[in-house]
Amino acid sequence: AIDLRTLRAQTGYITYDEGFGNTGSCQSEISFINGEKGILRYRGYPIEQVAKKSDFVDSSYLIIYGELPTEEERHDFLRELIKTCNIDTRMVRQFEAFPPSAHPMSILTSMMGSLSSYYPELSTNDRVLDLENFDRSCASAISKVMTVAAMSYRISNGLPINYPKKDLSYAENFLHLMFSSPNDEYHAPKEVAEALDLILLLHADHEQNCSTSTVRMVGSSGANLFASVTAGICALWGPLHGGANMGVIKMLEAIHAEGDDGSRFIEQAKSGKSGKRLMGFGHRVYKNFDPRAKIIGKACERLLEALGTEDPCLEIARNLEKAALNDDYFISRNLYPNVDFYSGIMMRAIGIPLDMFTVMFAIGRMPGWVANWHEVASAPKGKINRPRQVYQGQVERDLPESYNRR
Ligand code: ACO
Repeated sequence: AIDLRTLRAQTGYITYDEGFGNTGSCQSEISFINGEKGILRYRGYPIEQVAKKSDFVDSSYLIIYGELPTEEERHDFLRELIKTCNIDTRMVRQFEAFPPSAHPMSILTSMMGSLSSYYPELSTNDRVLDLENFDRSCASAISKVMTVAAMSYRISNGLPINYPKKDLSYAENFLHLMFSSPNDEYHAPKEVAEALDLILLLHADHEQNCSTSTVRMVGSSGANLFASVTAGICALWGPLHGGANMGVIKMLEAIHAEGDDGSRFIEQAKSGKSGKRLMGFGHRVYKNFDPRAKIIGKACERLLEALGTEDPCLEIARNLEKAALNDDYFISRNLYPNVDFYSGIMMRAIGIPLDMFTVMFAIGRMPGWVANWHEVASAPKGKINRPRQVYQGQVERDLPESYNRR
């Protein structure tokens, strides 16, 4: 028998899988997806059950620690989240240095990346120490991403920042940080806080998507939790990943502004002209309905009804969905709504501005990133992730005789 390393060295063969469509990059116990059947499970529990019976805090705990928390564990976890939700006062000064036009995602990446400067004891790049402090750094990442996200919104809109409150739930705290003003404290209606909690819960983990794989890639080098999750936030920003929720609303608004009911747009998306795609549709893994889209579609209608909000985009979205689900182009390519298709309409009803949508995704995905970092960091024989490439460049050649910079 010949071992794999020798085989590679002798043959030079490399597996090439464009976009990693069929590459298992790791072994994981966190979330499970069956894309053909439209199944998503967190630690074995179907997403439908988790969405119905759990909340963001419990499901974060489940994703990170492997089991639902007992009452005592939930209490301790919440205490850590509350203890760590404030940020170092020097970070507030750092916030103020951003230009007013800075995108909240740009501020979020910078501020989360700088956590290693303010909390060096939680981010040593010494694996043993970083794992010893994991409970604190994990809670810090989950609570501070929410504080930093809301503060980035306040700062980029020239508004005074608010500070988290210890007696509010995770979702209520975020809404307070975003919308309270010095003389007018925002009290989130129950439906709004619940809707936001559900959005976060549905985003909490999703196997080896682009950002989570990035977190694992960075973490595999021994980089600390804050550095690794910051890389994940950067990966999330792109329009084909976390940026798609903004893309959906922009698309729906443009369709509305043109007086289209969606049918003209469907034709353009099919022809691929001007690079148009039906945003919020299609998924690398789901070749069936994204189960999160089903849950969020219903929740979106419930929320708008409860708030008495009439959003023409919802009707257009329903038209697009109906048209696409009956169209050969979409059927033959297995293109179904993904989680982003309705999340934007919900966030808009909650009052979240468009340029914060991807930031919301980052807040929701933090538990998944943290859990994946932990899985990498605690693997007994952790290997650095180092893919190969298929070189397509020039064959060997000499520099021109006439060329010399020395
Ligand atoms: N609208 C129209 N056509 C589409 C769409 C779409 N949304 N998505 C895929 N297609 C077509 C492609 O043009 C291609 O057609 P072809 O075979 O004739 O060339 C075929 O379907 C396969 O598409 P790929 O881009 O190869 O599929 P891939 O798995 O690489 O991409 C992705 C998946 C990026 C999600 C894609 O479906 C897309 O761009 N969707 C819109 C953006 C979006 O909603 N992203 C969110 C993803 S989920 C998440 O991050 C939470």
